[in-house]
Amino acid sequence: MGSKFDFIVDELQQLKDSGLYNQIRTIESAQGAWLVVDGTRVLNLCSNNYLGLANQPELKEAAKKALEEFGVGPGAVRSIAGTMSLHLELEKALAGFKHVEDTLSYQSGLCANLGTIATLVGREDAIFSDELNHASIIDGVRLTRANRFVYPHRDAKGLREVLEKEGKSARRKLIITDGVFSMDGDLAPLPELVEVAEEYEAILMVDDAHGEGVLGDHGRGLVDHFGLQGRVDIEMGTMSKAFGVVGGYIAGRKELTEYLRQRARTHLFSSAVTPPDVAACIAAVKLLESSDELVKKLWANARYFKEGMKSLGFDTGYSETPITPVMLGDASLARSFSKRLFEEKIFAMALGYPTVPMGKARIRVMISATHTHEDLDFALNVFERVGKELKVL
Ligand SMILES: Cc1ncc(COP(=O)(O)O)c(C=O)c1O
Repeated sequence: MGSKFDFIVDELQQLKDSGLYNQIRTIESAQGAWLVVDGTRVLNLCSNNYLGLANQPELKEAAKKALEEFGVGPGAVRSIAGTMSLHLELEKALAGFKHVEDTLSYQSGLCANLGTIATLVGREDAIFSDELNHASIIDGVRLTRANRFVYPHRDAKGLREVLEKEGKSARRKLIITDGVFSMDGDLAPLPELVEVAEEYEAILMVDDAHGEGVLGDHGRGLVDHFGLQGRVDIEMGTMSKAFGVVGGYIAGRKELTEYLRQRARTHLFSSAVTPPDVAACIAAVKLLESSDELVKKLWANARYFKEGMKSLGFDTGYSETPITPVMLGDASLARSFSKRLFEEKIFAMALGYPTVPMGKARIRVMISATHTHEDLDFALNVFERVGKELKVL
């Protein structure tokens, strides 16, 4: 007789057979340009720690101080007894950084998306979502009972057509897009989206997870990059990427954050971020306010690496940011490539379906401000060697 879990065993086998099984590696050191992974020292080309803040001394000091003063746990959900003065300090610092009236911090970017989207729209409303939006947006949309319409990737004209056709009867309309698309590094056409949103009186929400700390003045994000302050209704962000810690937030008008504090289920029903984490987040925001040196270093590194890869003959897609996809197509090829890179002391993950569309497997290289030119030259040499060996070049 079979077991109840035979279907799981079968599906796991299918993943392995099709090259889609994700062998998750273990990091045994702090985040930085080099890591110890599964016992081997390797060049880190796959973390979202864009600015190197995950192991930055000022952030660690702030976390230690908060640990001594506030302890390790928040004790409750934010809305019952878990809102500490530190959470409010972070929200104030973020509001200043993003030039908005207010922010609401969440436990993660995923919680920010789920909680916010599901609170803002309901059965009588309509959501218009870019076809390549992040999974946390897709899941947020699934939590609502609103009508959903997916518009073609980065296509403001396509969005306008869908809004014209489907938006008329909706009580409220929510347009939602990734700011930087995390798998390809391309940008949402925000100026055009703002115009469409204003014309159709739709709420516009941007997921700036990969924009903040990277784009705009001092890394204030995509809205700042395009000079659209005050014209994007909701910015969602995460503290887990360029800010180097963990957590998420929503930035916008006071009535928005006030409403989410009352209604967003991820805010109401899951405990707050811990005091040391929040203190480290505050230190990260202050650091970015005071200097854009790391943001500039990140961009200089990204340009250097991308130009090097292009001149070697790699297809690096349409990235407009430090995210550098190395397009390989076939999932097994991407896995073999990543495996060979690891043997040559480079940690760069292969991404396949369902993280990216079928047939668009790739190695996604994440450049950071912590890399030296020597590191990047080392990476370029290895990519060239492995590329030739696997007949990609
Ligand atoms: C575009 C985008 N949105 C949201 C998230 C979720 O952020 P977090 O890791 O803080 O939950 C991520 C990160 O995985 C992301 O890339």
